[in-house]
Amino acid sequence: MRIAVVNGPNLNFLGIREPDVYGHETYDDLIYMLRDYAMGKKIQLDFFQSNSEGALIDYLQQCYHKHFEGIVINPGAYTHYSYAIRDCIASLNIPTVEVHLSNIHEREGFRSISVVEDVCVKQLCGKGFRGYIEAIDYLCSKKRGCND
Ligand code: DQA
Repeated sequence: MRIAVVNGPNLNFLGIREPDVYGHETYDDLIYMLRDYAMGKKIQLDFFQSNSEGALIDYLQQCYHKHFEGIVINPGAYTHYSYAIRDCIASLNIPTVEVHLSNIHEREGFRSISVVEDVCVKQLCGKGFRGYIEAIDYLCSKKRGCND
């Protein structure tokens, strides 16, 4: 199963940005952990991170053309206001899980609104890196044979 793991603005700054909220581990640590998790399973992961809305949309559209079967996305702050990313996810017809490291429902009010939630099959938040694993597992559980 081919799954894209997409991270939005400032997630390349993990380990530097607000460690009390996002922890001390880096973006590279996240990639390493997910690669390790997928190894030996029938899962092929493709990683993309950008601080730009347009670049994220261009990448997501490529996922359509490349017939990806699942997307795990942490859109960062775009979660809360990017109708462009929302419309893009809606157009793809690829099951997409929304992930947030922190619990967006227990922080500032503006973070509790996700404009992508209704076009995603699931939202996972407040679980740190574990949320990405759960998102991959969820996508795999919908596709038989993937976790063998
Ligand atoms: C985040 C939560 C967002 O509100 C924030 O803007 C981020 C990270 C998270 O992973 O908890 O950049 O998506």
